[in-house]
Amino acid sequence: MSDTQVNLAVNLAGIALPNPILTASGCFASGKEAQRFIDIDTIGAIVVKSITRKPRNGLPTPRMHETPSGMLNAIGLQNPGVDAWIEHDLPFLREHGARVIASIAGDSAEDFRYVAGKLLAAGADTIVGLEVNLSCPNVENRGLVFACHTDSSYAVVRAVRHEVSVPVLAKLTSDVTSIVDIAHAVVDAGAHGVTLINTLLGMAIDPETGRPELYNTYGGLSGPAIRPVALRNVHQVHQALPDLPILGCGGIQTVTDVVQFLRAGATAVSVGTQQFVDPFVTARLTRDLDAWLVSHGHSHATELIGTVTPWR
Ligand SMILES: Cc1cc2nc3c(=O)[nH]c(=O)nc-3n(C[C@H](O)[C@H](O)[C@H](O)COP(=O)(O)O)c2cc1C
Repeated sequence: MSDTQVNLAVNLAGIALPNPILTASGCFASGKEAQRFIDIDTIGAIVVKSITRKPRNGLPTPRMHETPSGMLNAIGLQNPGVDAWIEHDLPFLREHGARVIASIAGDSAEDFRYVAGKLLAAGADTIVGLEVNLSCPNVENRGLVFACHTDSSYAVVRAVRHEVSVPVLAKLTSDVTSIVDIAHAVVDAGAHGVTLINTLLGMAIDPETGRPELYNTYGGLSGPAIRPVALRNVHQVHQALPDLPILGCGGIQTVTDVVQFLRAGATAVSVGTQQFVDPFVTARLTRDLDAWLVSHGHSHATELIGTVTPWR
């Protein structure tokens, strides 16, 4: 609270954070590039790029494409693999006093369990929680995305919960019929909270060549274009499971966006695409949230959580 006027601290699913502004997975790597712009220990927590069992080169280019109020990406979970991450990225984050929420991904529930166990065995002093990225294809079940099915979401979270004792957030997609059903499944499996939402599946086509703008044809839509969808998901899940901690994510750019997510029911937020536009965004949002709360007569950020007032 040293240079803030109100108490910004929140407890996200058992993770004590100095403020509710986090970085979103895949948009901040492991913080090395950002350290030139911002002291990474001032960020609520860093959700690092998803880590897999083996290194992945990702998909061929083109892998990113700008769209109205957003962008499409099909990076394909490029990452160095858990062993190299532990060797090269963890020491940097530890040395700089970062609070790390490690995002994990895999092809099977066993992959998730393996990566979770390795990470916590090496980094329990720095890794304050895990985010389980369920938006990956399940190779053991026809490549169907884990997050689209209650049983596969349950199996992954259950495996991770058996392996580690840190708080586990399940990151869900909105590309489902009922996100509330998936939220119930991961809670039954032992998730301490959920991150809402991952990117929305989209597509763009070059009208001249007829080729998709992404090598992968489809990609994840992010940025302000998805913010209303993300807010709707946070609100729906909060209404159905009011005690479930939510990390809100999707199109956050300004403090008014942060306030909307907290009011909808998020305990904290993570900022993705805006990192590419403004590397100072987390510091700015923390400052602006402080000022907003003061100007609206609040003394604690938590006072906003779930305070949306329905018309009827
Ligand atoms: C380039 C890029 C890479 C991403 N990589 C990951 C990833 O590895 N794991 C994950 O869970 N989400 C990943 N995401 C999704 C973001 O964490 C976030 O959920 C999504 O972009 C919505 O937030 P935003 O609109 O603030 O970007 C990625 C997003 C982008 C734009």
